[in-house]
Amino acid sequence: MPPHHPDKSARYLSALQALKDEDRLRCLQPRVGLDFASNDYLALASAPRMKNAVLAALDLGTPVGAGGSRLLRGNCEEHERLEAEAAGFFGAESALFLGSGYAANFAVLTTLPQRGDLLVLDSLVHASIHEGARAGRAEFRVSAHNDPQSVDNTIRDWRAQGGTGRVWIVLESLYSMDGDFAPLEELVAIADRYDAFLIVDEAHATGVYGEHGRGLTAPFEGRENLLVVHTCGKALGAAGALVTASAVLRDFMVNRCRPFIFTTAPSPLMAVAVSEALVILREEPDRRERLINLIAFANREISRRGWRPSASQIIPYIVGDNARTMGLASALQARGFDVRGIRPPTVPAGTARLRISLTLNVSEDDVRALLDALAEETACEPQ
Ligand SMILES: Cc1ncc(COP(=O)(O)O)c(C=O)c1O
Repeated sequence: MPPHHPDKSARYLSALQALKDEDRLRCLQPRVGLDFASNDYLALASAPRMKNAVLAALDLGTPVGAGGSRLLRGNCEEHERLEAEAAGFFGAESALFLGSGYAANFAVLTTLPQRGDLLVLDSLVHASIHEGARAGRAEFRVSAHNDPQSVDNTIRDWRAQGGTGRVWIVLESLYSMDGDFAPLEELVAIADRYDAFLIVDEAHATGVYGEHGRGLTAPFEGRENLLVVHTCGKALGAAGALVTASAVLRDFMVNRCRPFIFTTAPSPLMAVAVSEALVILREEPDRRERLINLIAFANREISRRGWRPSASQIIPYIVGDNARTMGLASALQARGFDVRGIRPPTVPAGTARLRISLTLNVSEDDVRALLDALAEETACEPQ
């Protein structure tokens, strides 16, 4: 029998208590109410075509699980077909399918940048990028959000201090918690000026922006110094992520990327679902058009109330205080709107917010009703 430690859980309990004291304790909540919280922007997650594609694949004998690593028997024809189709769809030399966007960012950042290189991260990039940078071999520095001059200064300072390796500029094309777009063209120009690589996380733009939903990097795809992460669990309605890059970088990942090699391959059924999503993007452009119209409608309604409109389908309503944010989210949930509060450390301290996300799972009437409810709830709040 192991020795009995009555306080084995004490440090976890006290950490949880500390979170509670700061109004940062999280708990899992069921899905209820109108969807103003998911990233299922084009409502593909429950689209009949997606379901039918998976059912047809099952009927034809596609296994549920891959049964092994891609480098062993887990490499299924569904994965290879998806990667060939994705390279064609996005206009890249090659693509590699990984189990999630988190895994893809971590995989890329711990595999490609080498010792002696510099990573320049936008201050608001996703947690998975920070984790990958921390766990990787290269030095990393953080530049001011969406500020090309800050990126330029960071690189210049590093070079002046003797840095001689390759520079990697890492950003999101559409920021997940602020809903604003990166100044892509200027960052591409900086990458070219410093012979640097650009890693762009398109998590919230893939499927929604660019020709056929190819993302905001579409005009730059195929460049040797560009690597893009297209997550498949958001607008594509499935799960996983496609990394598009040059064939050399893909081959290097296949040989050296531990999060790709030492893991069971994603379900081949998921590869089928993503393949279908790419076909739907081409064949049903009206989905993107309807979402763009919904964003325009929401912005008119937001402006009418004197609030700040958003550039995209992600609408942050900044509250500031953690408890107030969660109180407001609960009040809206009680009225039938699934709106979630986002607190630090997901967003910077003092900027807790409601993250209202627009998807084709709701109508214009739903959006108007939510904004009316938000106006009422904030009007009766103590200031
Ligand atoms: C910007 C960004 N990158 C990556 C991810 C991770 O993607 P996934 O949910 O597929 O792991 C997310 C999702 O939360 C995200 O918002």
